[in-house]
Amino acid sequence: MKVGIIGTGYVGLPTGVGLATLGHDVVCIDAVAEKIDSLKAGKITLFEDGLEELFRKAVESGRLRFTCSMKEGVGSADVVILAVGTPPHPVTKEADMKYIHAAARELAQYLTGYTVVANKSTVPVGTGDAVDRMIRDVNPAADFDVVSLPEFLREGFAVHDFFNPDRVIVGANTEKAANVIKELYAPFGEKARMLFVKRRSSETIKYASNAFLAMKINYINEMANFCEKSGADVFEVAKGMGMDTRIGAKFLNPGPGYGGSCFPKDTNAMAYMARGYGVEMSLIETTIRQNDARKTQMAERILNAVADIENPKIAVLGLAFKGGTDDCRESPAMEIVGALLKHGADIIAFDPKAMDNAKKLVGDKIKYAADAFDAARGADVVAVLTEWVDFKSLDLARLKTEMKTPRIVDLRNLLDKDEAVKLGFSYVGIGR
Ligand code: UGA
Repeated sequence: MKVGIIGTGYVGLPTGVGLATLGHDVVCIDAVAEKIDSLKAGKITLFEDGLEELFRKAVESGRLRFTCSMKEGVGSADVVILAVGTPPHPVTKEADMKYIHAAARELAQYLTGYTVVANKSTVPVGTGDAVDRMIRDVNPAADFDVVSLPEFLREGFAVHDFFNPDRVIVGANTEKAANVIKELYAPFGEKARMLFVKRRSSETIKYASNAFLAMKINYINEMANFCEKSGADVFEVAKGMGMDTRIGAKFLNPGPGYGGSCFPKDTNAMAYMARGYGVEMSLIETTIRQNDARKTQMAERILNAVADIENPKIAVLGLAFKGGTDDCRESPAMEIVGALLKHGADIIAFDPKAMDNAKKLVGDKIKYAADAFDAARGADVVAVLTEWVDFKSLDLARLKTEMKTPRIVDLRNLLDKDEAVKLGFSYVGIGR
């Protein structure tokens, strides 16, 4: 099938590479010329494990192309996928629809033959109807359907998740459109469990899923607070809870709060929508509030660990919002760094992939290290803020020799606490 994808970010690019790998003929469209120039030159524009090789192969096969021209990408497409950003409004936190609306109006001009416009961006319920109206306004003769095709890829695991989808949710209001999406996913065979629902249900499923996962994380973070006071171990508690298949073991890792470009944005957008409908969603509202407060509490935990030292040097390990990605958007690590800076802290940081993106946010307000040991050199405390697997196997004995005072604040419970204590570190973790 011929597929046009609008937007080459963390959703659009892996989706384009994945669909081309499955054998579809894909054109990725982006208004940002530098991105398209880079992709055309064979240089990938974001880090995702395993993506670069597939990207190269797909480009070589001739099934993956890039353009700034909407006409070129949309003109002959059977399916046009919208994968543009819906960032939160700075004040109301509702999803900002300007990129969706602009894309809908522009693509409308170039539709030829029957086309399915599939929306992968996370959008307020009812957006499918709005996009439908916009396209009809601009091009009343166009033959098309708008479907909701929410994305469930996790950053850092986008390639894995693309090829191993838990589910494919399709919100299609016509059978014709549903059949086109079936054909798009046909190369997956039985692997893709597809659920066909009303367009508004599909749009809701995306928010309901992300908000639920955010609540689950907030729940285990609260439970960690309780364990710290009660003498229980949150690891053991999470393990025991997770053995109940109704609860499930995933997303029960306590930490410094959830971040990234999805959970904070989507919980806020869901709460905003609910308020608009006059529906009380107190669980989500509470989760948002507690997650915001958690970052400050975690910064205080680090400061408390060095409260006895004048002008302590803090080594931060991890700046990305989670392991496996270079993305610092709404990163709890960056917010904690911000809170520490407000206290005048002297910070040196290391992240295996995210330092360039971090520099765009905090510049030279902090120093950057070449590796974890370099960061720890002369430091009074090492604070682990991102769950990078690389940090898990850190040589703690060597880390200790680099530090001025051997103290660890491990906000991801990543390091081996018993070994750290045996080596003479003072160790503060989460929930135990
Ligand atoms: C999330 C969802 O997991 C994807 O299914 C969805 O497609 C995506 O949002 C989206 O809407 O586009 P992502 O933001 O990439 O994916 O990251 P997650 O792996 O879900 O992690 C989000 C945050 O929660 C991170 O800060 C992570 O460290 C934190 N987290 C996650 C925890 O603190 N504990 C956990 O047990 C799991």
